[in-house]
Amino acid sequence: MSVITHIEDLRVLAQRRVPRMFYDYADSGSWTEGTYRANESDFQKIKLRQRVLVDMDHRSTATTMIGQDVAMPVALAPTGLTGMQHADGEILAARAAEAFGVPFTLSTMSICSIEDVASHTSQPFWFQLYVMKDRGFIERLIERAKAARCSALVLTADLQILGQRHKDLKNGLSAPPKPTLANLINLATKPRWCLGMLGTKRRQFGNIVGHVSGVENMGSLSEWTAKQFDPCLSWDDVQWIKSLWGGKLIIKGIMDVEDARLAADSGADALIVSNHGGRQLDGAPSSISALPPIVDAVGDRIEVWMDGGIRSGQDVLKAWALGARGTMIGRPFLYGLGALGEAGVTKVLEILHRELDLTMAFCGHTRLDQVGKDILLPGTLPAG
Ligand code: FNR
Repeated sequence: MSVITHIEDLRVLAQRRVPRMFYDYADSGSWTEGTYRANESDFQKIKLRQRVLVDMDHRSTATTMIGQDVAMPVALAPTGLTGMQHADGEILAARAAEAFGVPFTLSTMSICSIEDVASHTSQPFWFQLYVMKDRGFIERLIERAKAARCSALVLTADLQILGQRHKDLKNGLSAPPKPTLANLINLATKPRWCLGMLGTKRRQFGNIVGHVSGVENMGSLSEWTAKQFDPCLSWDDVQWIKSLWGGKLIIKGIMDVEDARLAADSGADALIVSNHGGRQLDGAPSSISALPPIVDAVGDRIEVWMDGGIRSGQDVLKAWALGARGTMIGRPFLYGLGALGEAGVTKVLEILHRELDLTMAFCGHTRLDQVGKDILLPGTLPAG
């Protein structure tokens, strides 16, 4: 591919370069994938008001998220198995985010460990927590995140049970891939990826392997994780986690106004309106359509962010106009990573920034704090 101009170019390149099971793992949603698709298509329905003959010089997209300066209101979302999209993927993505001035969130289910990412970056990153039944493991994980100077904990609230993704089951998703005939044939067509993997020792869940007794290899690891997500997690546990952590807390996976009120009551610093990128409850509304009532209900008590379906800087601006004070991107940065490694993630951030900056200007504004709902055409907003 010669010139990369938008996120779709990187998606196409990633599809070519990343082994099928890991590309499919990223580019899929649960069951019919209806919610996954609606996350993107509902953004397209929202139309912008073009304004002209406004002084558009000296523009800035800078703002803050939970008090942290950011070059634009975009953070890299926590994504599991990122080190399988590209060797050392979490380290590369964290470095690209740091250089650009946006937050990076490391998933519990990352390939590179917390310590590994910390030793390859100079700014604090955020850590995402899945609560497991083994509470001792959770306490140790939180201690490790503190020791690595992580500056916020993102508690994911919508994955106590796992939504079914057909492709993962059909592909026999595992890290590293099992050496079946189908996998070996597919890997033979991905020489760059294979070379990268041969050059790294990071091929299993780095936060787990070696940190839980009895989990030393792939067989024991998949058995352990399958049993470990805790279906009993409740709002009481949020207080327990809050007291263990003691720092900034973000609750991710809120889609309902009642849950948003509980999140605000819990004393968290931010909540993320998210349906897990359409990977959990298929049939849930798109994140962008769930956002406005939640902003109305709790936007004055807690920072409200959103993720799901952002594929351009225009989408970031639309979310901001509807009250999201921050956004997260998952698949876009995974596509950049799979396509071109660290440079690909940087490219994604550059593309989003340019689109955000130009769209803000076309709408007649030079700073985000001037942007409100009035840049959106009434009647084009999706129903929640
Ligand atoms: C995710 N997501 C996710 N969320 C989380 O809290 N912990 C995790 O480990 C993961 N893992 C994960 C893997 C992959 C491959 C994807 C695509 C997503 C959800 C993620 O944080 C975010 O909510 C969505 O990705 C946002 O939607 P978009 O930007 O991918 O459309």
